[in-house]
Amino acid sequence: MFSEQLISTLKKIETPFYFYDTSLLQKTLFAIKDAADLFNYNLHYAIKANANKKILRLISKHKFGADCVSGNEIEVAIDNGFSASKIVFAGVGKTDKEINYAIQSNIFSFNCESVQELEVIDKIAKQNNKTVRVALRINPDINANTHQNITTGLKTNKFGIPITDLQYIISQKHSFKNLNIEGLHFHIGSQITDLSVFAKLCIVVNEIYNHFQDKNFKLNHINLGGGLGINYTKPENQIPDFLAYFKIFQKNLNIPQNVKIHFEPGRSIVGQCGYLFTKALFIKETNEQKTVIVDAGLTELLRPALYQASHKIINSSSFDIKEKYDIAGPICETSDYFGKSIELSKTSRGDILSIYSVGAYGEVMASKYNLRSIAPKYFSDTLLQESFI
Ligand code: LLP
Repeated sequence: MFSEQLISTLKKIETPFYFYDTSLLQKTLFAIKDAADLFNYNLHYAIKANANKKILRLISKHKFGADCVSGNEIEVAIDNGFSASKIVFAGVGKTDKEINYAIQSNIFSFNCESVQELEVIDKIAKQNNKTVRVALRINPDINANTHQNITTGLKTNKFGIPITDLQYIISQKHSFKNLNIEGLHFHIGSQITDLSVFAKLCIVVNEIYNHFQDKNFKLNHINLGGGLGINYTKPENQIPDFLAYFKIFQKNLNIPQNVKIHFEPGRSIVGQCGYLFTKALFIKETNEQKTVIVDAGLTELLRPALYQASHKIINSSSFDIKEKYDIAGPICETSDYFGKSIELSKTSRGDILSIYSVGAYGEVMASKYNLRSIAPKYFSDTLLQESFI
């Protein structure tokens, strides 16, 4: 995976820490850009997946737009090179302050999640003497076949405008005097690996688009959200098959050429370029199991505790025979495990463990629970330069 020189540099750094392979990120960015360009699709990177400044700058250099879900994300996106004219702003709970800020920043579009929100944005736009672009985030009631905590497109989820409210919005279009309702937005969930789900989404999108056409409601863009999953079991398959993903939309969407198609990928761009390095503090052995207690916990990577997610873990210090271990963090929570019954080379106190695929929703979900310090991050390009000094 990495050169011996890099591994030996990493082993000298105080753990726990995040490590980003910037050359993999660059390759992934080229891959998704090339695939999207084939179909003229527009990309907005979902800032929530990883908002680390260096990562953001690398991504914005490739001329991505940004998908933001808070005023702070909009600010960070603009500060790190994303053009406000390519920012979309989603979220079920936008505050008046955030709406004001987004209006004043002249973002591309609000992805609006309820009728009441339309009314509030209209009012605040009027106070600002502006007309703002809006896309309706619609809840298509589609099961994304992913973990229930990252499913967003079922009618029981809090996200999006129910299809049953669309008639009212269409009829009231002219009463929203300070809104240009000109787009539709969908995002049905995250870590989606069953790609047939996206084909189902296209069928619903076609139907809704046609309904708007029939009512003479002009739309000029459709945003299909993010959600493409990555391979956590075999992270060596590092770059997702973006071409296969986009081809599903190209094949199944039946939307006129002049309507622009947008996507908001997060995980598929940054997921595989991040690692968490942690040290084995203690090995606890009972008759039932061996548990490695490491110095990173759910404060550095919440995904296993919150979504029962499994990340590949290896012992980077040992090439001994394999044994089965539970791998637990130091946090005072019973759910603070990175995995149970995981095969690792025989592990001893002081060994360094590498946890894969933490580039998305890793560092950005870190917390200070138990008054822990936020773990530092290092990047392959600068670390290698520094190790020569
Ligand atoms: N667009 C919207 C409106 C979203 O809510 C999300 C993610 C995305 C785009 C990007 O989705 P992606 O391409 O990354 O799947 N913390 C969870 C994931 C939460 C996803 C939230 N929304 C995890 O660690 O799995």
